[in-house]
Amino acid sequence: MDKKQWYKDMVFYQIWPRSFKDGNGDGMGDLLGVYEKLDYIKSLGCDGIWFSPLYPSPGVDCGYDISDYMDIAEEFGGMEAFKKVLDGAHERNMKVIMDLVVNHTSTEHEWFKKSRERIEPYTDYYIWRPAKPNGKLPNNWDSLFEGKAWAWDEVRQEYYMHLFAVQQADLNMDNPLVREEVKKILRYWLDMGVDGFREDVVTFISKPEGLPDDRIMPASKGINMYNHGPHLHEYLEEFNNDVFSKYDCMTLAEAPMVSPKVALKYIDETNNPVLDMMIQFSTQEADCFFSDFRHMPFSLRKYKKALSKWQNGLEGKGWNMLYIENHDHPRIVSRYGSEKFRVESAKMLAVAYLFLKGTPFVYQGQEIGMTNWYPSDPSLYEDVQTRWQYENVATNKPPQKRLERLWYGSRDSARTPVQWDDSNNAGFTTGTPWFFVNDNYKEINVASQQNDDNSVLNFYRKAIKLRKELSCVRNGNYVEYNKNSSKLYIYSREYKNQKVLVVCSFSGKNEHWKVPNGFDLNNSELILGNYSNSELNVLKPYETRVYLWK
Ligand code: NOJ
Repeated sequence: MDKKQWYKDMVFYQIWPRSFKDGNGDGMGDLLGVYEKLDYIKSLGCDGIWFSPLYPSPGVDCGYDISDYMDIAEEFGGMEAFKKVLDGAHERNMKVIMDLVVNHTSTEHEWFKKSRERIEPYTDYYIWRPAKPNGKLPNNWDSLFEGKAWAWDEVRQEYYMHLFAVQQADLNMDNPLVREEVKKILRYWLDMGVDGFREDVVTFISKPEGLPDDRIMPASKGINMYNHGPHLHEYLEEFNNDVFSKYDCMTLAEAPMVSPKVALKYIDETNNPVLDMMIQFSTQEADCFFSDFRHMPFSLRKYKKALSKWQNGLEGKGWNMLYIENHDHPRIVSRYGSEKFRVESAKMLAVAYLFLKGTPFVYQGQEIGMTNWYPSDPSLYEDVQTRWQYENVATNKPPQKRLERLWYGSRDSARTPVQWDDSNNAGFTTGTPWFFVNDNYKEINVASQQNDDNSVLNFYRKAIKLRKELSCVRNGNYVEYNKNSSKLYIYSREYKNQKVLVVCSFSGKNEHWKVPNGFDLNNSELILGNYSNSELNVLKPYETRVYLWK
């Protein structure tokens, strides 16, 4: 099948369904709510939607613990509502991609229930190991969410592996029957008309033979043992050859700890790619050490290094997705921007990534500059990973410090309901919301920004429109200037006779800047900016500008 790579001209919107919009008043976001907001999403200039999981699930990890891959959860409106949304999106020329979560299933999945009973053919669907005679666990790997990577099953009298929550059992992808199941799932949704998949931690699916202890970096929880495991490429190739290559669809693989060099093994367009794009994490690590819970002061140099590494590393070979927020990280304004200069910094952060090469993703609420949620009590957190962190890590620190660790590290910081207006519950639901609404909803909401020319929301619309109009943003080369600056990020994109210069200040003070050599602003047009009264050589707090030459 001739792949059209339509995703290269698109901007995607990520929906984390529980908190997007409740359409039936039960307090939980749902597909009826999504249907109501399709025109809103389209009005941003977004022409694709990535749905975080919509499948039936006990909800231990908010849907990433799936108990049935071939259905849509009743709480989200069931299959009928999904088909309505899918059709509604397609009528608007929008694509829809689903989350494919096949590193693990919920322990409530039929496969697991049968596997623990050793009912064929399910016996080897998961990674089971007997207890060691010395009472030790099968190996020294840690779960990324809670404790060790092994849980004892009373029924089967063996350990099963769970790299995430205890109720998320890792599938045994080495079993060809499991791979056939995955292909069945893919065909089912693609035949229904879905346009592709975001593949959850897919780089973890191939575990090394014998599951050896991690002796090199035990502190890394074993991740370097199973990330990009021995058969990963082979399995992805199999999914691609047997399924994806037969559909005009896109694939986007979540890939923790990946470098551009490694990514090119999978996404090099000049050399039989097995995936279209990968989700790298390095641009999320400019204010923390690998995990958001290990918070550090934001370093622009670190951020720029990561951005440029990916722009340069894939040049001429690969294409990637671009993002500044998703459901796994606290809000970007509260991290890389400034809540004091919320409006200015939200706009600047948008420009900093929207003019790069790649397919941008916007996470729900990002487009209105939503901020982190700061609860006063740790018991209010819902997320499984956050709760475990609170109970088990840094327990000797004073209570306020422990709470702050969660504010800056928890995924719940970005999972509060979308703030639609200033009515009760921010217009998210007419019922009782499943989760807390951020107190600042009266000030920050979609309705108040809709008709305000200077709002973050309308700035996103302008920036996305410009991005789509400029061929140099899609096709141009990338050059970074002032690399050593810890305050300014300046880059250009150039293609044929068209060139843009993007200037972003990450400083809360006025900053002097010099136009890079070779650029004559007299012949340029200022096509986007976040201040109306700017002075040529001084950038105001969090100022951004985009100049165009043609
Ligand atoms: C990555 C997902 O983005 C995250 O939300 C989830 O908890 C883990 N994978 C486990 O599925």
